[in-house]
Amino acid sequence: MLKKIFLGAVALGVIGALGFGVYAYKSPIDPISADQRDTFDPDVVEKGRILAAAGYCATCHTAADDPAYAGNYAMDTGFGTIYSTNLTPDMDTGIGSYSPAAFRRAMHEGVDREGRHLFPAFPYDHFTNMTDEDVDAIYAYIMTEVEPVKTIQKENELPFPLDQRFLQAGWKLLFADFGQYEPDPTHSDAWNRGAYLAEGLTHCGACHTPRNLLGAEKASQQYAGAEIDRWSAPALTAANASAVPWTAAEFKTYLIDGTTTYHGVAAGPMGPVVHEGVRELPQSDMDALAVYLADKVGATDDDPAQSKVVLASLQRNQPDPQYRRELGERLYATACASCHYNAEQIRQGRPDLGINSATNLEQPNNLIHVMLDGVNGPEGIPGVVMPGFRGALNDDEITAIAAYLRSNRAGKPDWPNLADTVADIRVNGPTAH
Ligand code: HEC
Ligand code: HEC
Ligand code: HEC
Repeated sequence: MLKKIFLGAVALGVIGALGFGVYAYKSPIDPISADQRDTFDPDVVEKGRILAAAGYCATCHTAADDPAYAGNYAMDTGFGTIYSTNLTPDMDTGIGSYSPAAFRRAMHEGVDREGRHLFPAFPYDHFTNMTDEDVDAIYAYIMTEVEPVKTIQKENELPFPLDQRFLQAGWKLLFADFGQYEPDPTHSDAWNRGAYLAEGLTHCGACHTPRNLLGAEKASQQYAGAEIDRWSAPALTAANASAVPWTAAEFKTYLIDGTTTYHGVAAGPMGPVVHEGVRELPQSDMDALAVYLADKVGATDDDPAQSKVVLASLQRNQPDPQYRRELGERLYATACASCHYNAEQIRQGRPDLGINSATNLEQPNNLIHVMLDGVNGPEGIPGVVMPGFRGALNDDEITAIAAYLRSNRAGKPDWPNLADTVADIRVNGPTAH
């Protein structure tokens, strides 16, 4: 009897494996030569340039000091390191031999021209939402404007069996929801445009949605907040921890300027999202993203300048006759207050640290990163820099300032494990981004 069940189980397993094999098999698509390639309308190429920027293709496909799009950018996935591929139109080592159909299949299904499954470090699970027209425009841009470069592809550092590409088909079966974006008729056109961009091309969830043990975004917790390279990507839902409620106008400013008066700076991994990415999109798209985000977070239309929280924070900002007693308060007064002090209203480029996202989030990570390494170059307001204190303040001092800002300025419960997090980020962050 047992034998029968066992044989039955084996038979099922074999049929299952065969079925999986059939499912996992993707045929190669014939290569094309450079002169088989179409020439493209300059308007389409320009549209493709903007879309490629907003999808951060160059951010992930360019390694430091290498030519744009030449690949070999290292991504630490938590399972091992994956290197992005050469996206230049080089015939041998880039994607020069990709036909438009092969490029669409890569973007929509995560399969390369030769039929190999791609790892989801390439966010095809988002790009699948894009229209053929938008994918074709990016193709036109890459084939026309990007300089072909020959490279030697670095080998991924993944343990067996995670390095087996055909097993990625199983991951897709479990977690990927393939298909182009379908508009939700209960929402406005602007909302749907915002959703199309956020869920597809600009893949906001790749950092703002928590992932499961196999590295897939948890669909049931969309935008619930997550950690990326030891930074916190805040929740973009009603759980957003901001002291001052977001408005649609603030979202738009944040995504164009990389900073807002009432929330702070797009620093760390969010820096390139703004400065190398979404800000290239036309105004109407920025409005659409803001409408969509405002709905997800439950934003208000109230004028933040009149917010009680802001007035109270400015009040707490006033010198206190009792002050300079504790280490954190004393250090804040000498190291930070000269640039962060505001009198009656918050001025641009002078973030009020009582209401800043970095002091109000449930994790201290972003505040620690900014204190250690400052805000510079590609982050925040162009040309405006905050110095880093990595050399000037030791771990105890950074911890003391963070604890002071958290309890006295933000008025929130103490962060647990603050000192450990400071030590960890000093040694292990920032990762190459
Ligand atoms: C978050 C990082 C990331 C972003 C953003 C990204 N890619 Fe990639 N991409 C990768 C990685 C990593 C691979 C290699 C995956 C593998 O080896 O399985 C890849 C592979 C590809 C491939 C397959 C090419 C080949 O030769 O195998 C194509 C095509 C591609 N990306 C296009 C794009 C385009 C177009 C954009 C922008 C719209 C983009 N990628 C944005 C990380 C990224
Ligand atoms: C590569 C990872 C990454 C991607 C992709 C990303 N974000 Fe972020 N985002 C972050 C991080 C990290 C922060 C925190 C930055 C800081 O506080 O300096 C952040 C902060 C934000 C904030 C500020 C939230 C607050 O309460 O302070 C908003 C709004 C935001 N992101 C929206 C977006 C949108 C919209 C997209 C897609 C267009 C997006 N993000 C894509 C990582 C990312
Ligand atoms: C020389 C002036 C200067 C000093 C000193 C300074 N900051 Fe800043 N800080 C800035 C500026 C300017 C910005 C905004 C940068 C931008 O918007 O591009 C900023 C931004 C910030 C942010 C916002 C980051 C975010 O992601 O929203 C935090 C938090 C912060 N500073 C904390 C501190 C702390 C804590 C100290 C003391 C240890 C300090 N700063 C000292 C100038 C300064």
